[in-house]
Amino acid sequence: MKNIKILTCLSMAIWLLGASCKETQVETPSPQTVTYKSHIEALMKNYCYTCHSGSSPAAKLDLTTYEAVSSVAQAGTLEKRMNDDNEPMPPSGVVSKQKRDLITSWIAGGLNEN
Ligand code: HEC
Repeated sequence: MKNIKILTCLSMAIWLLGASCKETQVETPSPQTVTYKSHIEALMKNYCYTCHSGSSPAAKLDLTTYEAVSSVAQAGTLEKRMNDDNEPMPPSGVVSKQKRDLITSWIAGGLNEN
């Protein structure tokens, strides 16, 4: 009986530890935790909306909706151009590795919206 109590305590402790570790992983979230709403939308807003939004977006590519961003992600062009040293997006130069890793994780995690 006592053993069961100890075991329960132990698994609770491990569970809590796991939960708190997840929260400290803000730098490199695991694919399942990256979502359009929580990470990708803000990234697009900061680096892409200047050209890829409005009435005549660059390359006729409006990147202000989940549908549009996930469709270029699925096509492979999003990741390709964001990691392309010769033709980077944004054109001013590739963004930090951490931000590009977010894109990679988002794709790997199945392009979650929320
Ligand atoms: C300063 C303006 C500007 C910014 C900022 C910008 N782009 Fe672009 N983008 C362009 C132009 C112009 C083109 C078309 C010419 C080309 O492909 O290089 C283009 C093309 C693209 C293409 C290829 C479209 C196609 O049909 O082949 C993708 C994908 C893309 N941009 C994604 C992005 C992403 C993602 C961001 C933000 C991380 C971004 N762009 C930021 C101007 C911009």
